[in-house]
Amino acid sequence: MPLDLTVVLHRNLVLPNPLIIASGPSVKNDKDIVRGLESGAGGVVTKTITYSAVHQVQPKPRMYVVDKHNALARIKFYSFYSIDLMSSYTPEQWVDMLRRAKSEIARKKLEGVVIASIAGRNYEEWEKLTKLVTEGGADAIELNLSCPHVEPAQKELMGRAAAYDPEVVRNIVRRVKENTHLPVIGKLTPHGANPVDLAKTMVNAGVDILVSTARFQGLIIDVETMRPILWGGTGGYGGPWQLPISLVWTYNIVRELPEVPVIGSGGIASGYDIARFILVGARATQACTTILIHGYEIVNAMLNELKEWMNRHGFSRVDDFRGRALSSIIPIDKLNREKVYRYMVLPEKCKVCRACIRACPYGAIEDRGKAPPVIDFNKCDDCGLCYSLCPFNAIKYERIA
Ligand SMILES: Cc1cc2nc3c(=O)[nH]c(=O)nc-3n(C[C@H](O)[C@H](O)[C@H](O)COP(=O)(O)O)c2cc1C
Repeated sequence: MPLDLTVVLHRNLVLPNPLIIASGPSVKNDKDIVRGLESGAGGVVTKTITYSAVHQVQPKPRMYVVDKHNALARIKFYSFYSIDLMSSYTPEQWVDMLRRAKSEIARKKLEGVVIASIAGRNYEEWEKLTKLVTEGGADAIELNLSCPHVEPAQKELMGRAAAYDPEVVRNIVRRVKENTHLPVIGKLTPHGANPVDLAKTMVNAGVDILVSTARFQGLIIDVETMRPILWGGTGGYGGPWQLPISLVWTYNIVRELPEVPVIGSGGIASGYDIARFILVGARATQACTTILIHGYEIVNAMLNELKEWMNRHGFSRVDDFRGRALSSIIPIDKLNREKVYRYMVLPEKCKVCRACIRACPYGAIEDRGKAPPVIDFNKCDDCGLCYSLCPFNAIKYERIA
């Protein structure tokens, strides 16, 4: 079946597919922009463009993969810990790079959009950066109100530090909107304010599209050296484990602001993850870490996974399944609280490891020594912990009502 992966983020921002390479080291210059689109991505976001010298020079080393074997094998879960700051190129150099990239994209007849990520230290810089990247030919502007490395004490009106103050967010959005005709994308931080409130502040001030959401700030202490690892400071902390958190914020934002296009992001590692975000109402997605680790080739693999999934479920367009999961997410007040299942141990599979006995919060699993344990129906509260914990899949449940 022929598939149409096109997504409309805005009347002036149409993507050939829903996978955007997020702002990061994979989009650090004009060559990367072209390479990213050649790899098949629906769009790319530049590394954040700033005048802030503190954020232009990178600490070394600055990237660390926790559980690298999982990362390399594309097995969940792993974490990515890094303090890659913003772009080392000046905004003026970026104007040239954007122009070069756009002419190369036209020459090569590539599809996909170029989004410029910007971060000003004050309102005047936000205005200046907006004008520069608009002149440079970007297709949209993404506001970095999310970077986990911007400390409030630095008094720079960007990254997560700016996002703590709704008045600052409103002023930034207004200044940017007044100085460009391009669609403006607000990138949300999971830090500080409730992301739904932050999303509303951004949208009320004029943001056209939202990204939900960036990474957390983290800290890894080596217990033997008793110091932070590698570069010695804090870092951004993310990875596929973050996906359920980003997904719930996307769901919450889509429910509260159904008219606003949302780009799902945070922990995307496969085409199936792209589908997950779209199922809760996202229009498109952004991925950074997975492309950094596996290279641009992963873009095509992820899109093939998405296509395989769409084919299997009979969807020919992305809009066919956008928001499909929303109606099946049961609100807390509607959850069923009746006892409807009977749990039992399958003696032929049980290896008597006792994990279920130790874990059961209700003392409902009777220890039978060398024989498989037995679940007491009357004590069992149907919580499901034993079933999901059993390493041998030796517990099953059946409906009794
Ligand atoms: C090494 C690295 C560098 C990043 N640099 C930027 C940046 O310059 N600007 C920005 O807005 N986000 C930056 N990000 C955040 C990503 O764009 C993205 O929002 C975040 O990593 C979550 O997506 P992921 O789970 O797919 O990595 C960076 C992330 C990483 C891992």
